[in-house]
Amino acid sequence: MKRIKIKELLKSGKAGESVVAKGWVRTKRGSKNVFFIALNDGSTINNLQVVVDVNNFEDALLREINTGAALSVSGKLVESAGSGQNIELVADQVELLGAADPEKYPIQPKKHSMEFLRENAHLRFRTNTFSAVFRIRHAMAFAIHKYFNEKGFNYLHTPIITASDAEGAGQMFRVTTLDAKNPPLTEDGAVDFSQDFFGKPTNLTVSGQLEGELGALALGEIYTFGPTFRAENSNTTRHLAEFWMIEPEMAFYDLKDNMDLAEEFLKYLIKYALENCMDDLQFLAKRLQEEEKDKPQDQRSMDLIEKLNFVLNNDFIRLTYTEAIDILKNSPYYKKKKFQFPVEWGIDLQSEHERYLVEKHFKCPVILTNYPKDIKAFYMKQNDDGKTVGAMDVLFPQIGEIIGGSQREENLEKLETRMREMHIPVEEMDWYLDTRRFGSVVHSGFGLGFERFILFVTGMGNIRDVIPFARTPKNAEF
Ligand code: 4AD
Ligand code: MG
Repeated sequence: MKRIKIKELLKSGKAGESVVAKGWVRTKRGSKNVFFIALNDGSTINNLQVVVDVNNFEDALLREINTGAALSVSGKLVESAGSGQNIELVADQVELLGAADPEKYPIQPKKHSMEFLRENAHLRFRTNTFSAVFRIRHAMAFAIHKYFNEKGFNYLHTPIITASDAEGAGQMFRVTTLDAKNPPLTEDGAVDFSQDFFGKPTNLTVSGQLEGELGALALGEIYTFGPTFRAENSNTTRHLAEFWMIEPEMAFYDLKDNMDLAEEFLKYLIKYALENCMDDLQFLAKRLQEEEKDKPQDQRSMDLIEKLNFVLNNDFIRLTYTEAIDILKNSPYYKKKKFQFPVEWGIDLQSEHERYLVEKHFKCPVILTNYPKDIKAFYMKQNDDGKTVGAMDVLFPQIGEIIGGSQREENLEKLETRMREMHIPVEEMDWYLDTRRFGSVVHSGFGLGFERFILFVTGMGNIRDVIPFARTPKNAEF
């Protein structure tokens, strides 16, 4: 008999059918005569209830049916008397595929702390919460490719090892085969990278944008979707040293087109989640409620599904950085000195400022544009005021910045001047400047932090819990 996945069984299984199901035991309860096993195979958040008549099986086998053990069960589907499921499986045969010693198996059917599960990240997929998160993560990755494919964008694989610093922030991980203890030195005592693998210093990329621009100025519209790496020492719930980014780059798009695309894209993904991941979302919504039940009413989050629908059904508010600073300075929060960081035109907005705008002031996602040029990257379109650049950051409730992007400076001279001002090695980036030398056009793009977006969709509170194996300062376990 062929194995049928539990998702399929629960959806279309009919009473009377003989089937085989395989999976891991989530819980076992029962009486002297009968066991009820909740079996899960990862295809759905829902478990298949397996009914085992104790009298028909060996004691040795029954003793091995513990949380975490893998079983193959064949039997007949019957209508379920219990609530929550239509059918259950009455076991004729139970085969123990892999035992799990209850004295040693860490994931027991009780509430574990998130910290404990992070330490056991290799097994946390077996919990309801993490299986839901990672099914949604998969669905969102799929929807991203689907969206861009439908719009005629080309998926471009940009390099992971690079010699350039796309953001010019110097937060890169060096890639080298030189001996750290005894590197070759030049005459003046510096490390001689000409003897390194690539013949020059190289790093893990912080962004695929610069190569993405090369693609966009030929293919028209491209996107990247890959891992990016930042050696920033930020131990927060929003930062990873290795995270995934989606970076569309479009020829002939100005800043307004860029904002329109970002908003449409985010809404498409949210709609896809609501249409395809409802079981998991409902589970996570309940989990969030549980988690927050001890918080005072005004500090609780909106219901997860309500929140997703809200973002889907409302226009994002668009305003300039300068307008945002005005709002912040005139806010009751500012007057009561509730912000930890200063508010002044020219500052880089902190997460507390972004979240004030989104959660307290507008109560809606916000796109901020035209930031001061000194806090943004060299490649952004220089505005006529000489002070600001055509940047756009999309700010989301609970997250703060979820997207960063801009129109790009397409004028060769202006770009080169800015690069020199910002000490970007112009000569080494000649290849990049060639796009401005030959057939330069208005173009734009943005980067969506994949894990920040998954945080939003799942309602999870820590970015370490939406990537399978988190890399953060002092932590590269598994
Ligand atoms: O704003 P950022 O730095 O923009 C860029 O890298 C541009 N090259 C994108 C582009 O225009 N093509 O990063 C983009 C997004 C942020 O908005 C944030 O969501 C996410 O990437 N991000 C991080 N996510 C997790 N951990 C980190 N350390 C992150 N740094 C940025
Ligand atoms: Mg940014």
